Amino acid sequence: MSADHPTARPTSSASTPSAKPSTLRFRIQRQDAPDKPAYWQEFNVPYKANLNVISCLQWIAEHPVTADGHQVAPVVWDCNCLEEVCGACTMVINGRVRQSCSALIDQLLEETGDGAITLQPMSKFPVVRDLWVDRQRMFEALKRVKAWVPIDGTHDLGEGPKESIEQQEMRYALSRCMTCGCCLEACPQFLLDNHFIGAQVISQVRYFNAHGTGKTLAGDRLDVMAASGGISDCGNAQNCVKVCPKEIPLTESIAAIGRQTTVHRVKKFFQGK
Ligand code: SF4
Ligand code: SF4
Ligand code: FES
Repeated sequence: MSADHPTARPTSSASTPSAKPSTLRFRIQRQDAPDKPAYWQEFNVPYKANLNVISCLQWIAEHPVTADGHQVAPVVWDCNCLEEVCGACTMVINGRVRQSCSALIDQLLEETGDGAITLQPMSKFPVVRDLWVDRQRMFEALKRVKAWVPIDGTHDLGEGPKESIEQQEMRYALSRCMTCGCCLEACPQFLLDNHFIGAQVISQVRYFNAHGTGKTLAGDRLDVMAASGGISDCGNAQNCVKVCPKEIPLTESIAAIGRQTTVHRVKKFFQGK
């Protein structure tokens, strides 16, 4: 993907500040149920300083009347933390996948130059309704790779394994993943109807395999990475790293897990497994 791919995080804020419009024009892709067709509706929202996309959606929920005056069902979306931690509010805003809680209207106006804002659900996950998608595929994949540290019982296990500062810093960067799905939305290999596991889970395998106790399950995780839909399905397009809102070094994780998977395969070959 080129650096100016519409889903990539902006690399520059050099645009000229524009005059603020009195009205924001939202064009929203809607869908009444998972098996219903998508359609578009437009809504006008009065401009105020310091709005974010969710506060505009809340205004539309209180005033569910389209720009041409029709009373409609309120627009549905998902959110939780409102501080870019849970990932639930992720959607495609003006063609770029991101969190609607941290998408500030004043910044969007700098990007677009007028008051028009387009909202769409992510396209790589099944739509539940309107802007709300079902992200369960990511959570199921985390279960498949045993994305946890195994602890046998609740008795005192003593001190945990020692970890260097460098190791802590590497793992901290990976721990910031909020399962938002941006990296999967941007990935050409991750499709609604295939079974590629995606960069998010590959990076979590690296995170847990680097943990002193978590690495006891490394073989099981690498078995999933070596299987169909695993690491070899990554086409190395690197779209994922460009859109991750937490700036997780996904391509480093893909390279690291690629190496771990190769060593794992060779070991199993010589062990006759
Ligand atoms: S590097 Fe791999 S996981 Fe990332 S966008 Fe490309 S194909 Fe998808
Ligand atoms: S790796 Fe980044 S983009 Fe992907 S799910 Fe985690 S936080 Fe979101
Ligand atoms: S509501 Fe949690 S990330 Fe936006």
